[in-house]
Amino acid sequence: MHNSTRIRLIEPADAAPIAAHRVRDLEAFRPWEPAQPADFFTPEGQAERIDRLLAGYRAGSVWPGVVLADDQVIGQVTVGGILPQPHLRRGSVGYWIASVAQNKGHAGHAVGLVLRVMTDELGLHRAEASTNLENLPSQRVLRRNGFSPYGVAHSSIFLDGSWRDGLLWERILGD
Ligand SMILES: CC(C)(COP(=O)(O)OP(=O)(O)OC[C@H]1O[C@@H](n2cnc3c(N)ncnc32)[C@H](O)[C@@H]1OP(=O)(O)O)[C@@H](O)C(=O)NCCC(=O)NCCS
Repeated sequence: MHNSTRIRLIEPADAAPIAAHRVRDLEAFRPWEPAQPADFFTPEGQAERIDRLLAGYRAGSVWPGVVLADDQVIGQVTVGGILPQPHLRRGSVGYWIASVAQNKGHAGHAVGLVLRVMTDELGLHRAEASTNLENLPSQRVLRRNGFSPYGVAHSSIFLDGSWRDGLLWERILGD
């Protein structure tokens, strides 16, 4: 299963499958993903969002990826908040995998692949991530990829109706 996971830069044509997954998973993701405006769940709204992500990519602040299994889009993996300055060289990893494709190792493998992009392509030194304290699957994904928890950001994200603490994760990538 793991070997069938691929990642690549997001493309405008990914809007339709992403919108379809996020409509289907609206309830399943409610505890873990922030609430989104109605147009997030339409191909047109996703297409606009992809345009913004690709603008961020051209500006060097984002590496926006999709996760593929058997050449189908099953999720996203994004490096955001990229700080390329020589004394920082860090970025923050985020991801989701559609419920129909979960628990097959795809997120774990996709994060491993994006860490390689961060090192080899973006030249970054440090990877960060944040999970909900209760999101054990997401924490497994990070641990499996060499991340360690280093702190708690109190009341840092509004999820499912209330402010939640975030568990902060780090992984040093190399020189
Ligand atoms: C978190 C998420 C990305 C994981 O994707 P995935 O492709 O299913 O992840 P993987 O299959 O690579 O790994 C899941 C791990 O969680 C474990 N797991 C699954 N359910 C679990 C549970 N209820 N309790 C503890 N561990 C659990 C699996 O055994 C696996 O661990 P392992 O590698 O030690 O066997 C996916 O569930 C998701 O998108 N969830 C909704 C959105 C979200 O949470 N995004 C991340 C926000 S930080």
